[in-house]
Amino acid sequence: MDDLGSADQSDSRVIMLGGGNPGRIDEVENYFRQLMTDLLADGNVFEDMVAKYDSPIGNPEFRGALAQLLVKKYGWPISEKNIAITNGSQSSFFVLFNLFSGKFSGQKTKKILLPLIPEYVGYADAGLGEEIFVANLPKIERLENQMFKYRVDFDQLDVSNNIGAMCVSRPTNPTGNVLTNGEIEKLRKLCERINIPLILDCAYGTPFPNIIFNDVKPYWDENTVVCMSLSKLGLAGIRTGIVVANESIIRRISSANAILSLAPGSFGPTLMTKSLTNEKIIQLSDAYIRPFYKAKALSAVAMLHNELAGLPYHIHEPEGAIFLWLWLEGLPITSQCLYKRLKTRGVYVIPGEKFFPGIVDSTWRHQRECIRISYATDDKTVSDGIDIIAEEVHRAYKDR
Ligand SMILES: Cc1ncc(COP(=O)(O)O)c(C=O)c1O
Repeated sequence: MDDLGSADQSDSRVIMLGGGNPGRIDEVENYFRQLMTDLLADGNVFEDMVAKYDSPIGNPEFRGALAQLLVKKYGWPISEKNIAITNGSQSSFFVLFNLFSGKFSGQKTKKILLPLIPEYVGYADAGLGEEIFVANLPKIERLENQMFKYRVDFDQLDVSNNIGAMCVSRPTNPTGNVLTNGEIEKLRKLCERINIPLILDCAYGTPFPNIIFNDVKPYWDENTVVCMSLSKLGLAGIRTGIVVANESIIRRISSANAILSLAPGSFGPTLMTKSLTNEKIIQLSDAYIRPFYKAKALSAVAMLHNELAGLPYHIHEPEGAIFLWLWLEGLPITSQCLYKRLKTRGVYVIPGEKFFPGIVDSTWRHQRECIRISYATDDKTVSDGIDIIAEEVHRAYKDR
């Protein structure tokens, strides 16, 4: 992350395919600008927003409008009491992981189970104590045309061992995988059986920003914690995370907010409440955001096929999110080494081994054969970056 930050400040040309910034979409940005103009023109709304703390659970109008939207769209049995606001979903995970892992009096140390890795790098250091994650290696399904997909390996999934909660991102960062309805149902039943929460990270998911390219069912029940965010709509800078959970968990999030920051920020909720009420947030997601990323994913996949022809590469089926996950089978150098070579040429990606928190088998070569490439930025940057990635990958195989 330090590298990515300093690259952004660099004077020489940087081809940034490493970070998680959302793409810039004119129609969406124009809409946010208009919302801001309306907010400033609306009586004392601006002064109230900047002068007052929200309550620790978050802005009531926003929570109420979101609850209504989720009831209407999905029939979830919730009210605003099931929703808390945080300063970005990164902070939601920090609180949730530390609520459900660690040492509880009279019990063994609990861990967070990641049923499918690779998984979001941002979870990795979120534990306050010792390593809090335990991870389940995936099954690899090879598909036609050098594509592949990870599946949850239910035969190996061990929930017997002091697990405090399970967590998956859907769509998954880094792979673009979207767990199937069947996989979610099985995980849900397992969690219910051993009475632990299932945490679903929907930062890229439904109903907004809805960067999901296939048809899957959103899920919530009293035992499921759905984490959402305004970031990938294009509002990463205003740091608004949303947790939908049973009332007891929501009360605990609210207490954690009070301790960590007194109250979550008011800007995101104040700016966006109207777009929940009139459902504009859904229309923008469906009409602009999802098609934008889908077209970019298809074009980046085509470029990789073209540039890497003849090599034993595989691309994870892009089913959502804003990244491609490239598996370079039998790569003679580690992905960390490939990352360094790319960095000297000004291209930033993220090496695969960063995305395996909680892995026990460090000898699993696969984790050092993958890289994550963001395709969210402009087409020319993506295409120039992929050209250089391909040159370095060809070179690495050739120097074997
Ligand atoms: C899968 C996933 N979850 C959570 C986050 C955190 O997002 P934020 O804190 O901006 O809501 C990210 C950010 O990139 C992400 O990729």
